[in-house]
Amino acid sequence: MTKILVTGALGQIGTELAGELAARYGKSAVLISDVRKPASGDGGFEFASLDVTNAEAISQVLKEHGITDIFHMAAILSASGEKNPALAYRVNSDGTFNILEEARKAGINRVVIPSTIGVFGAETPRNHTPDITVLRPTTMYGITKVNAELLALYYRDKYGLDVRGLRFPGIISYLTPPSAGTTDYAVDIFYHAVQGKDYLCYLKKDTALPMMYMPDALHSLIQLFEASREKLRHCLEYNVSAYSFTPEEIYHAIRETYPEFRIAYEPDFRQKIAETWPASLDSHFAREDWGFKPMYDLKKTVDDMILNLRKILVHH
Ligand code: SER
Repeated sequence: MTKILVTGALGQIGTELAGELAARYGKSAVLISDVRKPASGDGGFEFASLDVTNAEAISQVLKEHGITDIFHMAAILSASGEKNPALAYRVNSDGTFNILEEARKAGINRVVIPSTIGVFGAETPRNHTPDITVLRPTTMYGITKVNAELLALYYRDKYGLDVRGLRFPGIISYLTPPSAGTTDYAVDIFYHAVQGKDYLCYLKKDTALPMMYMPDALHSLIQLFEASREKLRHCLEYNVSAYSFTPEEIYHAIRETYPEFRIAYEPDFRQKIAETWPASLDSHFAREDWGFKPMYDLKKTVDDMILNLRKILVHH
């Protein structure tokens, strides 16, 4: 019987991932966990309070619930990581080490760990960035995620643990807001437009970053989870993205629906982070090895975001 633990299940991706996994494997096959308590109920999911910096607690949850597979989504993102680097180190590096070590001891089948464009740095080629390239990030988030990628490889090669992952770009979604990353503007801008507010953007108007819509992010996680192991040439180093845009480009795309919408730019510390990240990614390994194929282009993303945010923000 499959029983999947999702860590960080109250975060931007975790929340929606739990629903997707339940739709596929049944609700009783999913155990959601987070360091926070669910504010608005657990959505009918079994919930375990879990701090991934506590190895003993992980071990207990794995045993108690007969966990077979793990999606390790708990992380401190780039912007909050710069506000509290020590916490980012503990959650992202110690937390990932604990997950891998307890998974190995418990004989877990598959461990899925998302990585990020945050692993790249100023010396990485900025356009069509390949999977295997220079990794010299300058954020604590990036440093801990490079560490996670290398640890995953180590556990795979030394112990035969089945660890898989991909490097997400900025993820656009409307259900749960992102928890303080550098790419959050691409979500915030929609909330402002739909609520008839002007937007003050913390990145410069011509800063291009790779992005992707949530349904494609979820689909790719599950595709990777279900892929046959022999086909996977990489561990966590699969770059994925659907498109790239600048703040100015997304602004103009939104203005097609909201011609009155206005934007101003006031770059802060996140601009410096964004400048060390790729403008676009080469995703061919993900396409070839496990069939990565995003369905949402920028126009479909914008239309769907506006449609859903209107339902949530305007009609209630
Ligand atoms: N969305 C993340 C961040 O901005 C990138 O992985 O930190």
